[in-house]
Formats: sequence, structure tokens, C-alpha cells
Amino acid sequence: MNISKKMQDAFNTQITAELYSSNLYLQMAFWFRKEGWKGFANWMFHHSDEEKQHGLEMANFVLDRGGEAVVDAINKPEANFTDPKQVFELTLAHEQHVTELINRLADVAEQEHDRASINFVDKFIDEQVEEEKTVRDILNLFRHRDGHTVATIDDIVGTEQAD
Ligand code: FEO
Repeated sequence: MNISKKMQDAFNTQITAELYSSNLYLQMAFWFRKEGWKGFANWMFHHSDEEKQHGLEMANFVLDRGGEAVVDAINKPEANFTDPKQVFELTLAHEQHVTELINRLADVAEQEHDRASINFVDKFIDEQVEEEKTVRDILNLFRHRDGHTVATIDDIVGTEQAD
């Protein structure tokens, strides 16, 4: 069964959101590099790549189902940040927003009775749980600052990313 137009359009909207996320994290990585936070920058570069990968996976799925994948205009991401903790707070808020978008994509798949899309989107629902948890863990390191300097957190986050 070919993908429906409604499902295809919903995926294309999400592809744009994933590419926006990729650019947002790339901008954050550039800011961290500029400020001399190498570990945080590595984490952001890696996550930027992951977001692009999400967009590509969705595009391949749409194409495999006989649909059309579209690269749309992508808004300029936020570029002014104040400190590392604030960047990760923005990251968590952004991932929570993405979770809502993925849930809406799942709603469309259910409305369309599209079993293949329901199955495909399910793994992104799991992915969002993991991504929110990862960022929350980093914010907890900031909350327990008495035990860590920001430089230690930069080291921990950068090293974890290398694993
Ligand atoms: Fe592709 Fe961070 O969600």
C-alpha cells in the first residue's frame, strides 16, 4: 500500500523539524566551541548529526512507501546563549517540543490506519524518551554543582559522547 498524501505531508513536516533540530544543535556546538567548551561542543555536534539522520530515515521511509520526500525552508535557529546550563535547558525544552510533534505524527498514522507508519513512528517515540532522559541527566550534573565545576561537567559530557 502506498503512503497516503496526508501521512506523507505529516512526515515531510517532521523531516523539516528534524533538520531544524540538527541546525539548532549545530549552532549550539559552534557557540560551545567559541566559548572553549570542547566536551559540550562534541556532544552537540554528535546530536546534530543524529537529528539529520532522523530526518533522512523518515525521508527514506516515505520514499520506500512510494511517496515524495521534500526539503522545505528551515528557520534560522536561536544563536544567542548565556551559559552552558541555559543551553541544555533550551535543549530539554526543544526535545519536549519534538516529543509532542512525534506524538502528533503517531496520531496521524493511527487516523490513517497506516500500520507500517505506526510501527515506524514507535521507535521515534522510544527515542524521545531516551533523548529527554539524556539531557535531564546532564542538567542534574549542573544541579549537583557542589560536587562538580562546569569544567568537570564539560569533561564528563564530552567523554560520555565518545563512548
Ligand atoms: Fe530527532 Fe531529538 O529528536
